[in-house]
Amino acid sequence: MALITIISGKGAPGATTTLAALAATWPAQVLLADCDPDGGDLAPGWLGQWMLAGRIRADVGVLSHATATRHAIAGDPASLIDHVQAVPPARHVGLLAGLSAPGQHAALGLEGWMRLTTALAAFKTQAGQPVDALVDAGRFGVVTPWPLLRAADAVLLAVRPTQRHLLAARPVLTELARRVAPERLALAVCVTTPAGTRAVRAALGRDVAVEVPIDAKTAAVLSESRDAGALPPRSALLRATHDAGLRLHRTYHRYTPAEVRTAAAHRVARSLAGGTR
Ligand SMILES: Nc1ncnc2c1ncn2[C@@H]1O[C@H](COP(=O)(O)OP(=O)(O)O)[C@@H](O)[C@H]1O
Ligand SMILES: [Mg+2]
Repeated sequence: MALITIISGKGAPGATTTLAALAATWPAQVLLADCDPDGGDLAPGWLGQWMLAGRIRADVGVLSHATATRHAIAGDPASLIDHVQAVPPARHVGLLAGLSAPGQHAALGLEGWMRLTTALAAFKTQAGQPVDALVDAGRFGVVTPWPLLRAADAVLLAVRPTQRHLLAARPVLTELARRVAPERLALAVCVTTPAGTRAVRAALGRDVAVEVPIDAKTAAVLSESRDAGALPPRSALLRATHDAGLRLHRTYHRYTPAEVRTAAAHRVARSLAGGTR
């Protein structure tokens, strides 16, 4: 399995939108864990319509897991499943909903994040299949959930190709580099163009793991629940995260021949359905 965490500096570069798009196009079962200590945006953003309809609950997720396991000594993967909700517009995605009020991170503390990290890293479906996890760690700061960053196979710093975002990203990268091994630290360049991505790579001197083009329409689906959160069949943003997700997934998995056949069958089914991503 792969545990991938995205984090940002100041200025909302597009971390949450990028993570939602990665999950929506991920080539396998995936757990989308909203661990932004300042409060989660994934459910009220992409899945806002489903929350209003009562299909997604704000009180089932990171906080309910921390509360339910507060007497546990170590993280237990079996403890997580009761706090994961189905994501109606993407059936291969499970959601661990984020904190919903300011200051709730204090109820987790370091111990709560540690229990969650252990549980996420070893999480399996009811059928016993390991599940990849995509984690939103929010904006870097004093309450950053470090256990999730330390355990991650990849920590992606989200940044836009603008001077303001580059300046915000630099000190965060310096702090991350102190505690995350260089081969696990990379960039997610958001709202970008090929020239923008080249400029970011040159300015920050790190590999780019995910490059997300400007696509306001799809971004509004994923961040504002536009079109009731339904994914558009043709989308530059989703095409980019689909390709990046395949690359990331391949980095952490060896495919069996059966999995290769299943992936090919899915591609054929999607193209017959008229989608291009
Ligand atoms: N690829 C993109 N193209 C256009 N707009 C985007 C893109 N990614 C994000 N946005 C927009 O940027 C804003 C901030 O995005 P968000 O994901 O909430 O940022 P963060 O999680 O870094 O705070 C939102 O309005 C979102 O719709
Ligand atoms: Mg965010």
